[in-house]
Amino acid sequence: MGRMTTQVLEAINRQIAAEFGASFSYLAMAAWCEHHKFMGAGKWLRQQSAEEHGHALKLFDFVLARNHPVLLGGIEEPKADFASVVEVFERALAQEQEVSKQIDALYELAFREKVFAAMAELQWFITEQVEEEKTVREIVAKFHMVKHDSAALLDLDRELGGRGSAETGTPA
Ligand SMILES: [Fe+2]
Ligand SMILES: [Fe+2]
Repeated sequence: MGRMTTQVLEAINRQIAAEFGASFSYLAMAAWCEHHKFMGAGKWLRQQSAEEHGHALKLFDFVLARNHPVLLGGIEEPKADFASVVEVFERALAQEQEVSKQIDALYELAFREKVFAAMAELQWFITEQVEEEKTVREIVAKFHMVKHDSAALLDLDRELGGRGSAETGTPA
């Protein structure tokens, strides 16, 4: 099995902070939504925040399982102000697309350095990013469809609130 390299280890440690950053950012989005009484969207975003926390811990556990030190880096202050609930989810989509790029770059690095265990671990994240981008893209599209119809907007908010706690896919 290819051995861990310093470069890959540093990059995974940075990704741990990035996942915590995503978690924090989703929590800020949840706060904005709930403050503006989009309680369903708030619930969805809280769950997404918890998922990102789980992603961070998955990499955290991986580093420790490979008998290396975890080094937690700082995370940026998340964006907390939004013009609308649509903008919140557009921002979420941009964030997921950014994370997909980070994961791709990390995978490419692990591939170049022949760190096979990291490649196997990161495959899960590549698949997860495809799913998360798809889910958020669908939500953004729905918000665009209902735009100025407040009854439909309330229905959509309720639909988002119906997301199950163990679910990762499209909200029911
Ligand atoms: Fe993530
Ligand atoms: Fe994500």
